[in-house]
Amino acid sequence: MATTLITGGTVVSATGRSLADVLVDGETIRAVLEPGSRLLGTDLKQSVDTVVDATGKYVIPGGIDAHTHMQMPFGGTEASDTFETGTRAAAWGGTTTIIDFAIQKYGERVEDGLAAWHEKAAGNCAVDYGFHQIIGDVNDESLKAMRGLLDEGVSSFKLFMAYPGVFYSDDAQVLKAMQVSADTGLMTMMHAENGPAIDVLAQQLLAQGKTDPYFHGIARAWQMEEEATHRSIMLANLTGAPLYVVHVSAKQAVAQIATARDGGQNVFGETCPQYLYLSLEDQLGAKGDQWGEFEGAKWVCSTPLRSKHEHHSDELWTALRTNDIQMVSTDHCPFCMKDQKELGLGDFSKIPNGIGSVEHRMDLLFQGVVDGHLTPERWVEITATTPARMFGLYGKKGVIQPGADADIVVYDPKGHTSIGLEKTHHMNMDYSAWEGYEIDGHVDTVMSRGRVIVDADAYLGTAGDGAYVKRGLSQYLL
Ligand code: URP
Ligand code: ZN
Ligand code: ZN
Ligand code: ZN
Repeated sequence: MATTLITGGTVVSATGRSLADVLVDGETIRAVLEPGSRLLGTDLKQSVDTVVDATGKYVIPGGIDAHTHMQMPFGGTEASDTFETGTRAAAWGGTTTIIDFAIQKYGERVEDGLAAWHEKAAGNCAVDYGFHQIIGDVNDESLKAMRGLLDEGVSSFKLFMAYPGVFYSDDAQVLKAMQVSADTGLMTMMHAENGPAIDVLAQQLLAQGKTDPYFHGIARAWQMEEEATHRSIMLANLTGAPLYVVHVSAKQAVAQIATARDGGQNVFGETCPQYLYLSLEDQLGAKGDQWGEFEGAKWVCSTPLRSKHEHHSDELWTALRTNDIQMVSTDHCPFCMKDQKELGLGDFSKIPNGIGSVEHRMDLLFQGVVDGHLTPERWVEITATTPARMFGLYGKKGVIQPGADADIVVYDPKGHTSIGLEKTHHMNMDYSAWEGYEIDGHVDTVMSRGRVIVDADAYLGTAGDGAYVKRGLSQYLL
């Protein structure tokens, strides 16, 4: 088995940083050593197969993006990144594990939905991957099938209080699924928006001729997110289900989560880079040369981007610092403008919902360190360590310690990354939602289970390097 020494760097964990060398043996980390250490009398630099010089750089656990939708059928089309292109883009950006959402469609068996996702991913991924299970049809059969998920390495499922007629669960269905969650320890992940009310608002706006992407954000008002977040917290409180609220964008939803946590409830919150940086006015309301008023379609996602005048982003950065929100995933769900987002020309409700960011999460959050929102330790915590603990991967993933998978990123805090379609973009999209963003840092080297897959702006991996990872129950639960 090949050995590698990552030497001279500052190893950053969720709890601290120190100058240390990391010895990798095969697929795992063998030792974290004082700089220049000898092991069993030998000078390691001489005896290992490869030396990676990380002098002046951060050495961090590979990022874990716990919310992606590769090749997801949605909005009359399919998310444009395959498992191959999407995980390769993830690797470029220092993310070495994704957790994607397998889908049980309405009328389908849960087992068949999960099997279909294994089929899409197997042999195609550049980095390791796990699955959450979307339950799109809560019924007696699916409730029973959920009890078999943990044996498959799936320890979490997502319900939707939004998207009536697609993935929507009513309160009775949510209650029943949460009872299974409480009973089994499976994490309930919730898309918390009041879908039926949103659909009425959307139809009323369209009837008034308000068809541009901007009105997607108006229909999906923050009250719809706060209300559903509250309702899901109450149902979780009643049943005892652990609850993880996905893609939180409204500060009022943050407050609901914070209150529940203060009360001792197992409630967790995730936000995404788009809610930290982008807004209703600047993006959904954008007018571009190519697409005119339809430019904003690039940023149509749900929950939507919020008004900059209400300062949701500021509150989200604060919540990340104070742990009212625990982690950041991308909700990577890319669609091209051509033939995909275009489906909603003249009707914002037909624009496929989603933004692609899997490649840029580590960089965008590192910019949060540079801008004074986060410490380097908190950056590692919210992008790798907490995702690992939240979803039952910790020890193997999310930490640099002996025995862990050698998923390691050498990150240059003095480097630079220009984001844009012609620059760093490797996602299968015909635009970048992050065009023009400049990052004061750079992903230098990415190692996935001991193999260097990205180094010095070259991709060295192959499709199929990534393996399915079975997950255990959340390590946040007693
Ligand atoms: O707009 C989004 N978020 N698309 C992906 C599906 C979901 O709700 O997460
Ligand atoms: Zn969602
Ligand atoms: Zn999603
Ligand atoms: Zn580069």
